[in-house]
Amino acid sequence: MTQTPIRLTVNGRVHEITAARDTPLLYVLRNDLALNGPKYGCGLGECGTCTVLIDGAAARSCVIPIDGCAGRDIVTLEGLGTRDKPEEAMRYLRIPADDQDSIAGWVRLREALFDSAMREEAATRYVALATPADKPQMAQQLQVTAVRALALFAGAEAVRGQTKSPGGLQAISDFIESSVPQADRARISEVLLRILNGSLFELLNTTRERAGLSALKPDEKTQAFMTLSVLSLSDSFFYPAPVLLELTDFKQVQQSVFQVARAPGKVLVYIGAVLLIVGVFAMLYIRERRLWVWIAPSQREGATTPGGTKISLAMSTTRRTMDADAEFEQLKRSILEGDTP
Ligand code: FES
Repeated sequence: MTQTPIRLTVNGRVHEITAARDTPLLYVLRNDLALNGPKYGCGLGECGTCTVLIDGAAARSCVIPIDGCAGRDIVTLEGLGTRDKPEEAMRYLRIPADDQDSIAGWVRLREALFDSAMREEAATRYVALATPADKPQMAQQLQVTAVRALALFAGAEAVRGQTKSPGGLQAISDFIESSVPQADRARISEVLLRILNGSLFELLNTTRERAGLSALKPDEKTQAFMTLSVLSLSDSFFYPAPVLLELTDFKQVQQSVFQVARAPGKVLVYIGAVLLIVGVFAMLYIRERRLWVWIAPSQREGATTPGGTKISLAMSTTRRTMDADAEFEQLKRSILEGDTP
């Protein structure tokens, strides 16, 4: 096969590949472009581990030659992030798993964040826990700050000069920059983030209670989950995915060579395969012999009357053994002399 360069557009980048035009796309992705998202499984287009998107449609890259991919838009697992321009690096949204190993906790928290009544309730819970017993007068101001921090983080409140809030930590930062003198920013920012984190924790526990789950204890594990959740909630404002799909279950299908036949006539194929196997063993253990007899009219030299017959004999066998010659002699005698072998 000729090896002329071929241009492939993979994950938004154009690559010049020198390979035989019938090379499967999977080999080029993994070996030439070091994209290991698509995996080699069955190599028959059956299992789907090598799936990529070609012009937006799922395709099995192990059975697609690169020849048919020139000028088409190929996307692998590595290209499923987002970016605004092809030259930018991909951005990904990382969602932490909760104590049930599910993203449901994060999803519930995000939904509650956009509900003003839930934000108010979480702020009240936070204030009840955070107000010093000897300074009850702080409660009211703390409540206002907690509600505001949650509203800013939820993108529900824009700061001065903005028509739309960016939401997330960016909104908190914009608020501090627009409302707090430079000298106080570090201190206020620390206080505001502490209030925000505490309120979000109460918001999380409110959603858990409504979902029939026990409230989380503020231990190290919960702390780690909350840190990742806050970062990922903040990032979610900049991640333009309109839907979130979660794989909850899957069925692994093992392939074997017999499963290649999935057509309606597969039973016939199976029977044929069994007969083929029997035939192969029969060839090994059954010695086949063939005797060739050629009978032709002939006249003996010097004879005056016609009516003679000439007989030619030959024998073939699949395996040459010591007995073959003796057998042939015996058969020859039987035919020529009328002996019973
Ligand atoms: S490796 Fe391509 S479908 Fe299995």
